[in-house]
Formats: sequence, structure tokens, C-alpha cells
Amino acid sequence: MPPKKPKAAGIEHQDAPLSIIILAAGQGKRMLSDLPKVLQLLAGTPLLGHVLDLAASLEPASIHVVYGHGGERVRQAFEGRPLKWVPQSQQLGTGHAVAQAMPEVPDSHRVLVLYGDVPLLRRETLQELARTSAGSGLGVLTATVANPTGYGRIVRGKHGKPKRIVEEADANPKERKIREINTGVVVADARRLKRWLKALKPRNAQGEYLLTDILALAVQERCGIASFEAPDVAEVQGVNDRMQLAEVESEYRRRRARALMAQGVTLVDPARVDIRGTVTVGRDVQLDVNVVLEGHVLLGDRVRIGPNCVLSNVALGADTQVFASSVLQDAQVGKNCRIGPFARVRPKSNLSDDVHLGNFVEIKASRVGVGSKINHLTYVGDTEVGNGVNVGAGTVTCNYDGVNKWTTRIGDGAFIGSGSMLVAPVTIGSGATIGAGSTIVSDAPPDKLTLARGRQQTIDTWQRPTKASDKS
Ligand code: UD1
Ligand code: CA
Repeated sequence: MPPKKPKAAGIEHQDAPLSIIILAAGQGKRMLSDLPKVLQLLAGTPLLGHVLDLAASLEPASIHVVYGHGGERVRQAFEGRPLKWVPQSQQLGTGHAVAQAMPEVPDSHRVLVLYGDVPLLRRETLQELARTSAGSGLGVLTATVANPTGYGRIVRGKHGKPKRIVEEADANPKERKIREINTGVVVADARRLKRWLKALKPRNAQGEYLLTDILALAVQERCGIASFEAPDVAEVQGVNDRMQLAEVESEYRRRRARALMAQGVTLVDPARVDIRGTVTVGRDVQLDVNVVLEGHVLLGDRVRIGPNCVLSNVALGADTQVFASSVLQDAQVGKNCRIGPFARVRPKSNLSDDVHLGNFVEIKASRVGVGSKINHLTYVGDTEVGNGVNVGAGTVTCNYDGVNKWTTRIGDGAFIGSGSMLVAPVTIGSGATIGAGSTIVSDAPPDKLTLARGRQQTIDTWQRPTKASDKS
């Protein structure tokens, strides 16, 4: 049997190397923002970041980003990525923008053009476009939409073959009725594309060099043209204003929610869960409404997250429950913990198994041992809490002297009475008991009761004063 050809991870392009050109020079006037449009956030990541990830997933030979408005800010936002930055100092149109990148693209390459403001495209769709247009000099991704206003329309000839693309501003009333639109995404042979771009003329309502005019030029040359219709219109949605930004955000939310449910997660309301990163889940995980997951989140088997919780870069062990309105960031949490309601776990915290954190408890850069309970109104910062420790309500580790941060150590099985101030650096021995209301400034020995507070006294002779006016 002949050996099976390994499946290509990128897109098939007749063995020609792929160069991707991403257009990102536009200002985004309709956003009315100081931020360049491609830096507007979708699920916490700039629009352009989504397109760059998609481009990288196709494993091209090179990615060229055409930038202009807010240039340096855009470049800085993606520092360190292997990108070729191409300046376009004047925005003379999409054709002009692509032309700026072409000198860097070898003639033998296949070129894929993407837009920095079309963030929801899927890799599968681009692979399908590449497959459909493999034998053609030009391939165009189209979509049929209910309301084509603002988009370029695909004008087809007698045999249904694409003839040209007409922009909204240049279209006659009949053409405006066409509901098949140009998504902006095209693939083409580099040699031909260079030729077509040189021939563009700014003879149109906008006075710009329009990339869309290459289709008519390809027809003139009798070059094979393929079109592929995107199966899902939502993925070709462009972002030109805040309304479209919100639409794209909710489509993204739906997409991520569907993917989580497909992995066996229960979402009480898929429209009210936001996933802004990568999530790895065990079995029978349940998320209540208004949960936000950011960065890398790992949820073990049977983890349950209550309403209004934000989890950012956290790992939760199996059977752990987070109750309403809790916020956890950069933390490691063991199995079978109970956290919240209204708890806050701040960066560099590590909770072992069976830990309980209750309402209005804040933990920062601390380790909490197995089975320890910190249930009410407490701040624990820069602290090593042992196993089986009980921290009473209203305890504060005073970790900051105004200049430096100091460490508190609480040994296994210690019991901290309510309202205690532990002034760091300080060590509470294992099995120690601290009397309620103590201010502990020196180490407390193990297995002993330590008290640090004024003695209670009763004044027998004392009398409550009377009102001056009653005396007369
Ligand atoms: C463009 C298409 C239209 C298509 C629509 C899909 C053209 C002429 N029109 O219209 O057919 O239906 O996208 O969303 O291509 N850009 C530059 N430099 C420029 C001009 C634009 O980099 O000189 C960038 C923009 O930043 C943007 C992209 O190109 O990322 C598209 O430009 P935009 O002005 O938004 O084009 P549309 O009017 O949406
Ligand atoms: Ca656009």
C-alpha cells in the first residue's frame, strides 16, 4: 500500500508558498475613537489579533500587515510576532494597500488578502476557498446576506460566472438589489495580482484604487476565476462602527459558548457567558450566568461556578465550587474547595485541597494548606498558611510597613481568633491559639494560647452622666 500523504495543516495552494496580506491601515472613522480601529477589542483581544491568529494558523511563508493610522501603536501591540510591517502613509484604497506589500512577495507565491476588521473568519472557510480556487488565477470569498447595504456586490454574467465587483457608491439601483456580496477576502497568483494592481485606476465614486476592480481585469485576461460562498454569514461580518463591534462580540460569545457545551459543559444561559481565552474542562462542569473566563482557565471535573464570577488565568481542581460574585486571578486552586460568595483571590495564590474561603475574604500571594478555613471578612497577603488552620472573622495580616512587604507564617492546626492583627514579619506556631482581638507583633509559640490586648475591667463606681439642663 502506498504511504498516506500527511494532511497539510495549512491551506492547499497547488504547492505554491502562501503569502498573506492583512489590510489594517484604515482609521475607522465610523468608530469615533482615538484608538486605531484594528486595536478595538473583541473578547479582550484587538480585532487585528484575531486575524493574525487566523493567518498564523494557515502556516504561511510570510504575513504582511499593511498599517497606517495609529501606526506605531498598532506595531507595538504585536511586538515580537513574526510579521512583515508595510507602511501605507496615505489610504488611497484597498488596491493601493495590497500593492504596498507586493514588492516583498515573490512571483511564484499564492497571495491571500485578509482584512484587519473582519475578525470572525474561520480557518475551514479559507481552506475551502483555497481548495475551490486551486486551479484558478483568482478566488473570491462571497456571502449572501439579507441586507447588503455598504458592501461591494458580486455581479455575475450569463453563465453565472463572476464578472466584476461593484461598490455600493458606484452601483446602479439594479446592482444594489444584489444580495451576494464581496467579503473582501481573495486569493490570487502573485504574478498576476501584481499586474492587475498596476492597472488599477481610481475611476470611481471614492476616487480610490479599489482591490475589487481586479476581478474585471481577471475577466478581461480570461483568467480562471473561482468564487466560494461562506457557509455562515456571521463569520464575514466587518467592523466599521460600535454597533457592528457589539454584533461581532455577541457572535463570538455564541461561538465559544457552543464549543464549551459541545465539550459537555452546562451553561445556564449560553448568551451570558464570556470566554476570552482558552478553557480546558473536565466532565460535568457547570457555569452559571455572567461568568467571564479570561486567559488560560482550567476547570476540573464537576467544578461549579456561580453567577457573576470572573476567573482569569486560574486552574481549579475537581469538585471545587466558586459561589456568586467571586473574582480569581492568576491562582492555583486544589480539589473540593469552597470559594465565596464575594471572595477575591489575587495573583500568585495557591490554595490546596479542601480549602474554604468565605465572603469578603481577600487572598494575595499566599499559600493556603489542606483543609484550612478562612470564612469571613479577612485579608491574607504574603502568607504561608499551614494545613487545618482556622482563621477567624476580621483577621488582617499586616504585611506592609509603608515601604516593604513582609511574610506571615501560620503553622498547621493554628486557630486565629476573630479580629486579630498579625503584624508581619511574624510566625504563629503550629497548634497555637490566638485570642480574639489580639495585635500580634512577635512570634507566637506552638500549642499555646497567646493574647495581646488590654484586659477587660468594670468600674463599679461609675455612673452615667445626666443631661446638664435637668440639673437646674
Ligand atoms: C471593502 C470592499 C467591499 C467589501 C467590504 C467587506 C473594497 C474597495 N471594498 O469595503 O467590496 O464588501 O470591504 O467588508 O475593497 N484599508 C487599508 N488601506 C486603504 C483602505 C482600506 O489598509 O487605503 C483597509 C481598512 O483598514 C480595512 C480594509 O482595508 O481593514 C477594508 O477597508 P474599508 O474601508 O473598511 O472597506 P469597505 O468599505 O468596508
Ligand atoms: Ca470594512
